[in-house]
Amino acid sequence: MGKEISELFLLLLLIYSGTTASAAILSFENQCGYTVWPAIVSGNGPTLRDGGFSLAAGKLVQLIADPGWSGRVWARTGCNFDSSGNGKCLTGDCGSLNCIGDGQPPVTLARFIIALGTTDNNFYDVSLVDGYNVGIGINATGGTSDCQYAGCIADLNGNCPPELQVVNVSGSVVACKSACEAFNAAQFCCADDYSTPQTCSRTQYSEHFKKACPNAYSYPYDDVSSRFTCSGSNYLITFCPTES
Ligand SMILES: *[C@@H]1O[C@H](CO)[C@@H](O)[C@H](O)[C@H]1NC(C)=O
Ligand SMILES: *[C@@H]1O[C@H](CO)[C@@H](O)[C@H](O)[C@H]1NC(C)=O
Repeated sequence: MGKEISELFLLLLLIYSGTTASAAILSFENQCGYTVWPAIVSGNGPTLRDGGFSLAAGKLVQLIADPGWSGRVWARTGCNFDSSGNGKCLTGDCGSLNCIGDGQPPVTLARFIIALGTTDNNFYDVSLVDGYNVGIGINATGGTSDCQYAGCIADLNGNCPPELQVVNVSGSVVACKSACEAFNAAQFCCADDYSTPQTCSRTQYSEHFKKACPNAYSYPYDDVSSRFTCSGSNYLITFCPTES
């Protein structure tokens, strides 16, 4: 379906299903120069698009999240699936084409809570707390309230500290680990003596992540500059955004 036709279709569907009030359209756009396999795991509400699909470079796919839906979204790379969807991915793997679990870190996560009521706020954020594999940007469109751009403005793999790098067989950096995963230390994981907002603060590593993705969680207590609200909006989720 062409973009215009599919948008018209979604509009009609929204009108006829009577959920115009606060259902959100989630548009997935692939600006990476390669195929990614978006993964979706629902926290509340139905599994969208069977929990995963293939998105070729330059393509856009639109899904509807009903009021009250919540979930996590990420991109998988380097996947090989057979015709029944069995197979593995180099980054972000979640068991099969249709996710049967969480994504294998390091993985960049986008998270959504779609409001139940018309005037209530949706929540959304991008998180690098589990590391980074593909840049994600979230544009909230057509809503009111805060509605800021969330996520990345640059690729972090090209700029990942050596001790955090995950490389493929040709030696290219395909993902960047969180310092927590790489060193398993309480200071980086906000654990034990560092388990409160007062005792766990930014580190040289989270600062590094913050440069590529200024409006994303770079460590667990990074709420102020990372968690956004918007009412009545749709969302454009861009993989490999270059600017906000
Ligand atoms: C390794 O990653 C680079 C960059 O993403 C890619 O161009 C290359 O094809 C990958 N190598 C293999 C063997 O997959
Ligand atoms: C996000 O929205 C802004 C303003 O509407 C626009 O200028 C920008 O290009 C959008 N970003 C992406 C990645 O589409």
